[in-house]
Amino acid sequence: MSQKAIAVLTSGGDAPGMNAAVRAVVRTGISKGMKVYGVYRGYNGLLTGDVKELNLRSVSDIIHRGGTVLYTARSEEYNSPAGVKKAADFCRQLNVSGVVVIGGDGSFRGARDLTNEGIPCVAIPGTIDNDIACSEYTIGFDTAMNTAMDMVDKIRDTAQSHDRCSVVEVMGRRCGDIALQTGVAVGAAVILVPEVPFDMDKDVIGRILENKGTGKKHFIIVVAEGVGKVNEIASYVQEKTGIESRATILGHVQRGGSPTLRDRVVASEMGHKAVDLLEQGFGNRVIAMQNGKIVDFDITEALNMKRVFDKNLYDIAHTISI
Ligand code: F6P
Repeated sequence: MSQKAIAVLTSGGDAPGMNAAVRAVVRTGISKGMKVYGVYRGYNGLLTGDVKELNLRSVSDIIHRGGTVLYTARSEEYNSPAGVKKAADFCRQLNVSGVVVIGGDGSFRGARDLTNEGIPCVAIPGTIDNDIACSEYTIGFDTAMNTAMDMVDKIRDTAQSHDRCSVVEVMGRRCGDIALQTGVAVGAAVILVPEVPFDMDKDVIGRILENKGTGKKHFIIVVAEGVGKVNEIASYVQEKTGIESRATILGHVQRGGSPTLRDRVVASEMGHKAVDLLEQGFGNRVIAMQNGKIVDFDITEALNMKRVFDKNLYDIAHTISI
């Protein structure tokens, strides 16, 4: 029987720790006697044939590097039945009998479609947003939060010197987890997230005026990308409170940098587990973390789960930022 071959790709927005996951997949696969192909630029690599067999040394010196050595993309062509079929045919040509996909929920849908076309896939949650419902943790989240915290600490220095209010946007289009965690860690006076409706006059201006009344002189407002409008918020705060205000959008700085210990370790565990599942013949699975343990779910089931926002922490943040 010919040697079992698997492939690994990274897809969607990059996240620190993806390289650690790729390394774990390659090394686990090879240690189980498999051939492991790296697929470049997400699903596009399966359409253009941009793949390379990786060896143990191909993934040396990458565990500490941000970004993804396999590059990443959001593939238009793959998002069609014909694209998926073409990718599956290419896998069959290479004798690839399993693919590990590292990315967010868009990438998971791609993995489900490829499995349905006959190529078993196991997906690993890799996104700084922490927006995968089935998993309490996604690779890259810890690094991104720590980067955001460092940046806001610097902004606080200048806000404090000038007695200003700084309104800072962090990433997270549909998910306020980076804003919530960072907001707590920097002692933000206000945290705005897409999951919790708010009233600008009561919940933002009212809070600031109340804190001003007890002697507070500088303020940090952390806003998730999904709420946005940081320039308008800053202007409104200045107009209504008389406190000079500035807006900052942190942007892609949050996606880069050397992964934290947590991201490296979780990525290594998840990468290892993904290959284990493929070896046992499982496909259409997603790796997840539940109660700190690495587990797996059916992808379709995982995609139907609803995320739960940590409203308790959100309330605590507002109770103690007075
Ligand atoms: O999903 C990760 C993420 O960084 C989001 O927080 C953000 O909305 C989006 O990707 C940005 O995507 P792009 O890099 O394509 O601008």
